[in-house]
Amino acid sequence: MKKMVISPMAFLPFITALISVFLTSSQAAAPKTSFEDNFSIMFSENHFKTSEDGNTWFLSLDKETGCGFQTKEKYRFGWFSMKLKLVGGDSAGVVTAYYMCSEKEAGPERDEVDFEFLGNRTGQPYLIQTNVYKNGVGGREMRHVLWFDPTEEFHTYSILWNNHQLVFFVDRVPIRVFKNNGEKKNDFFPNEKPMYLFSSIWNADDWATRGGLEKTNWKKAPFVSSYKDFSVDGCRWEDPYPACVSTTTKYWWDQYDAWHLNDDQKKDFAWVQRNLVIYDYCKDVERYPKLPGECSLSPWD
Ligand SMILES: *[C@@H]1O[C@H](CO)[C@@H](O)[C@H](O)[C@H]1NC(C)=O
Ligand SMILES: *[C@@H]1O[C@H](CO)[C@@H](O)[C@H](O)[C@H]1NC(C)=O
Repeated sequence: MKKMVISPMAFLPFITALISVFLTSSQAAAPKTSFEDNFSIMFSENHFKTSEDGNTWFLSLDKETGCGFQTKEKYRFGWFSMKLKLVGGDSAGVVTAYYMCSEKEAGPERDEVDFEFLGNRTGQPYLIQTNVYKNGVGGREMRHVLWFDPTEEFHTYSILWNNHQLVFFVDRVPIRVFKNNGEKKNDFFPNEKPMYLFSSIWNADDWATRGGLEKTNWKKAPFVSSYKDFSVDGCRWEDPYPACVSTTTKYWWDQYDAWHLNDDQKKDFAWVQRNLVIYDYCKDVERYPKLPGECSLSPWD
């Protein structure tokens, strides 16, 4: 991670974040679930493995194919979280995606919320790309570098989703805030369709690393990404749809406090903005001479 130029002082906000992770981790110990309870394999059963105790899952990619899994249930609003450890070493061209999507196949009307991890050559930093789709329209990418090497340990990647905001978290640090505008209908904020949660690994050396310049080194295959501690605290889709949105604290992810960042989160978010953002579609006036309307919504509100 030599390439990251971050002064040691810049890490200060993280001390608060780390302490709060530490304090909340005991209460957050969710009951263990086995893979089959909540997930099914989307493709390539034979590229999927679990650890002996069943708690860690491995997806692998080789020249033949990648692999992916998805939740059996759909959800609309909640807190979605999982620990991932990414492919290490020479992983240029390899993309691990962790995302929510309203459809099993990427259809033209889908809503989608993405975390994508773009591998790199040995010793060069991974990028994390996030994106949001509404009714099949995306193009809302942001890219960040991370403040750690995501291939060394498991880290937690989470999505907070309610009708007011979508927040992407890495180890409880908010790295991206995507706001709704409070109006009944809009063409940018996914809030109507329930979504499955997916993860997959595949070869994207046509675009991922330095715009497709770096090709996947198949001598290093299989590429393996690892997963554990899936947890959802959200509204499971049922028919008829349950009234998950209520005033009880049970649905904390839909309460006033979850409609905007709190003060500590704002400090961390400011640090991320200053040090880690390397691409923001809302600043790309070459691509969007007229910036999309949602770009005028403030993440600080
Ligand atoms: C996972 O599956 C179990 C068993 O079907 C169920 O009780 C639990 O609510 C599911 N978890 C989620 C997050 O949907
Ligand atoms: C890979 O490393 C290079 C050189 O440090 C960097 O420019 C690039 O943004 C990194 N990530 C990807 C996905 O290309």
